[in-house]
Amino acid sequence: MTDYVETDPIEGVQAGPGARRPRRWRRTPALRELVRETSLDSGDLVYPLFVRPGSGVREPIASMPGIAQLSVDALAAEASELAALGIDAVLLFGIPSEKDELGAESHAEEGIVQQAIRALKAASPELVVMSDVCLCEYTSHGHCGLLDADGYLLNDETLVILGRIAVSHADAGADVVAPSGMLDGMVGTIRAALDAERHEHVAILSYAVKYASAFYGPFREAAEGAPEFGDRKSHQMDTANAREAMRESALDVEEGADALLVKPALGYLDIVQRVHDRFPELPLAAYNVSGEYAMVKAAAANGWLDEREAVLEVLTGIRRAGADLIVTYHAKEAAAWLRESA
Ligand code: PBG
Repeated sequence: MTDYVETDPIEGVQAGPGARRPRRWRRTPALRELVRETSLDSGDLVYPLFVRPGSGVREPIASMPGIAQLSVDALAAEASELAALGIDAVLLFGIPSEKDELGAESHAEEGIVQQAIRALKAASPELVVMSDVCLCEYTSHGHCGLLDADGYLLNDETLVILGRIAVSHADAGADVVAPSGMLDGMVGTIRAALDAERHEHVAILSYAVKYASAFYGPFREAAEGAPEFGDRKSHQMDTANAREAMRESALDVEEGADALLVKPALGYLDIVQRVHDRFPELPLAAYNVSGEYAMVKAAAANGWLDEREAVLEVLTGIRRAGADLIVTYHAKEAAAWLRESA
């Protein structure tokens, strides 16, 4: 049987699709729901939190409308709001009270993230607490580790500190540590450091594939971690590369990563799909980054697109590409919309 009947104006044959009509499944909402291939659930979302010193602080971030830096005492209320929305996980970033060349507060027992982890776990023990493991928010120069005289990021010297940061987060009660610096060997070093301190149950979500992206712009305001000079291109990946993403992922799997993350999400859905296809046995996360959030917010604020529709479309697209988890600043609003439509 042919799918299409050819028009023949001379013979007057009717044009049409024949028997094959994909639109049959799209006729009503119930039919569409029945054949929907991708699900989006609040349980798939991870909400990033920025924690800063002080008390009673809720400092809005101008380039990320709706997102604020919070002081530790505001976290318990935040945790119960997230629980009510069905969001099970947060990813913590800290703004320390002091920065120095070596980023000492990053692994201090009373550091800002360590305090935040303890406060969240006390308020909401079932909340999954993930923590960013990187030095960029803690160093005076804003780079992701120690630098040599030429300003080149030192790899192996920095790894030692990343191990200490991860252990200090685990000591405070973190469930998952998320190294984001794109240093060689970071996963293996952190796994060894955690295990040496009897934190063998703490998981590593590795930013295995993180590109040197312009879309981190608003985050650098949020986390106060912009580099004072230079850029991150000597460690984050070249945006033009895809095969290299396979190599980065393979190394992290070998070193013992418990889950992989691709970042940013929207310009890199091909990479999400490739990592998913190549390592289907590991959970995969994608980071819908600050610049992606800011674009949608700015367009919506101007009335240029329907925010709800756009956000749910973006998040569904990231899931469709193969991500199990999505780190997103849209998490709270998306969870509320998903609840309404359930
Ligand atoms: C580094 C880190 C960055 C982001 C997450 N972790 C910034 C960077 O690499 O410069 C970006 C997240 C976002 O843009 O939402 N610790």
